[in-house]
Amino acid sequence: MKILHVVGARPNFMKIAPIISAFNTYNQQHRSNHAQVLVHTGQHYDHKMSQLFFDQLGIPKPDINLEIGSGSHAQQTGQIMLAFESVLVQQQPDLVVVVGDVNSTMACAIDSKKLNIPVAHVEAGLRSRDMSMPEEINRLLTDAISDILFTTDKGASLNLRNEGIAEKKIKFVGNVMIDTLLLHKNRALQQPTLDDLELKRAGVVMPYAVLTLHRPSNVDDESTLAELSRALLHIGKDMPIIFPVHPRTMLNLKKFNYHTVFTMANNIRLIEPLGYLDFLNLTANAKLVLTDSGGIQEETTILGVPCLTLRNNTERPVTVEHGTNRLVGTQSKAILAAYTQILNAVTKKCSTPEYWDGSAAKRIVDEIVNWC
Ligand code: UD1
Repeated sequence: MKILHVVGARPNFMKIAPIISAFNTYNQQHRSNHAQVLVHTGQHYDHKMSQLFFDQLGIPKPDINLEIGSGSHAQQTGQIMLAFESVLVQQQPDLVVVVGDVNSTMACAIDSKKLNIPVAHVEAGLRSRDMSMPEEINRLLTDAISDILFTTDKGASLNLRNEGIAEKKIKFVGNVMIDTLLLHKNRALQQPTLDDLELKRAGVVMPYAVLTLHRPSNVDDESTLAELSRALLHIGKDMPIIFPVHPRTMLNLKKFNYHTVFTMANNIRLIEPLGYLDFLNLTANAKLVLTDSGGIQEETTILGVPCLTLRNNTERPVTVEHGTNRLVGTQSKAILAAYTQILNAVTKKCSTPEYWDGSAAKRIVDEIVNWC
């Protein structure tokens, strides 16, 4: 069997890494030779958004890089579809594996199905119910046409059932992002990240917060940035906020002048995007994390670090029900109320979601091999 894996943007890399590795292990253990082809669409291309993750996670060099790069949604999606179609015609895979919810995920799933090539979607069934989110459109379309839908939790499986997806296509396998986290955590904790960022005093870690922002609804909108900045400037008076800035966010911070506002408030530290290991180390040791990312809501759940999600909805409610995540929106009053609870050690009762145990990729490979 020939399996073609697709990656495109930063959060895809930590999802595909354990699946490729689990296939290699399967081949060794069963003396089989399922072939794997890795295609990078090039949606993300900066060294710190792409190659660094390949290096740190031991992902093999892509067999094919489409080098599509940035553009409007239609440009990016259309160009990926054009280029990926030729790859499919040339490679003739038996199955295409797509992960997550980025434009590359949807574009490659549609191409495959139009050529009657089966698609497996890893991280299926997540729903924010917010159709203004580009990812929600990508999730709905990809799930509607996929042949195997691997879910991270039972709520996601239920979403798919409610949309009429046949039961036999839905496979609850757990969370491959957490496979990667558990595999690399010890190595991450040994990185000199906190020394490099001067977050230790006399060898002891100082309290600090980590901030990430990249959702268009937050960073493309000046009034939302203004509201968020009120809360951030307040928190910054108590503890440093380490802010690895996504390229999209940097463009907008500069455009709306918040780059200067944050730089002048000397406790909000704008830094370049970090690699996987440094970022994991940084979050694992943080007093709290403020984010609008999906994956970080999951990672903080496993790390047990309080997470304030700066959005009005989440496609990952399991992280609120089981984990450390609090959905606080973008109003400074609500953000600061939740922040005060964390400072006062008002903790949430937490438990690990089922199958977030480091073996999701193995379950995926077993399912794929049985499916064929
Ligand atoms: C994309 C995904 C989003 C995911 C995020 C993770 C879609 C619709 N969005 O958003 O779901 O959470 O990745 O980071 O697929 N840029 C660079 N260098 C890069 C990549 C991007 O400078 O390597 C800049 C460009 O100005 C680009 C902008 O960032 O226009 C946005 O990149 P894009 O891939 O379109 O969307 P993201 O915001 O990164």
